[in-house]
Amino acid sequence: MQHKLAAGNWKMNGKLQSLDMIESLGKAVGTPGCEVALCPPAHLLIPAIDRAAGGPVAVGAQNCHSASNGAFTGDIAADMLRDVGARFVIVGHSERRAAYGETDADVQAKAVAAQNAGLVPILCLGETLEQRETGQALPVIRSQLQNALPAASKGETLVIAYEPIWAIGTGKIPTMEEIAEVHSALRGDLVTHLGAAGTDVRILYGGSVKAGNAADIFAIDHVNGALVGGASLTTEDFAPIVNALSDT
Ligand code: PGA
Repeated sequence: MQHKLAAGNWKMNGKLQSLDMIESLGKAVGTPGCEVALCPPAHLLIPAIDRAAGGPVAVGAQNCHSASNGAFTGDIAADMLRDVGARFVIVGHSERRAAYGETDADVQAKAVAAQNAGLVPILCLGETLEQRETGQALPVIRSQLQNALPAASKGETLVIAYEPIWAIGTGKIPTMEEIAEVHSALRGDLVTHLGAAGTDVRILYGGSVKAGNAADIFAIDHVNGALVGGASLTTEDFAPIVNALSDT
């Protein structure tokens, strides 16, 4: 198994000055027993990577295009992100699936492009509240995995993030049993699809992770870290989450 991963998704938040957090977070987490990544908006990637150099924080992007170049105004290729030093890229976040109509096939193409460029895709999956309430959560999530999974993935080349849509930014989280059920099903499916390599792919939980619930979530089997939105915007909120993961 790779080191566990605490990844922060800044979404459309942050200006140059926000990058001061990279130094303060580095100090607050010391030499963590897990990987730490921040995914700021695209305009901050290069200065973030400069400021993170030599420290414990890796930098990732929030999206990429599946093509390597071309007439795609406003888009950025995975290879371009890798060229400036990004390590990770989030693909298939539910906000992009909802706002830009990204399908599982689109997400798979982006994840494959990311892997080919040497980036590690953080591939997001998750059910709506209605799907959860009608007993469809597991079939939906498993089908998203099956349809978006890049075929030749290994522990070093793929991270999965289970993010119930209704838990994102709401302060609500599933029960510990519900998280355990999903992560264990995803682990089983990863092994079915990838063979032994499926045991090494990290499965993050995301959706209202905070300092107060992180340790309980990280104690669940097959939870190998977190994808954190709101609580990744300040060192005060994010460092305790990283430290809780380091302690597991
Ligand atoms: P949240 O967002 O931590 O603010 O709920 C998580 C995410 O969208 O990745």
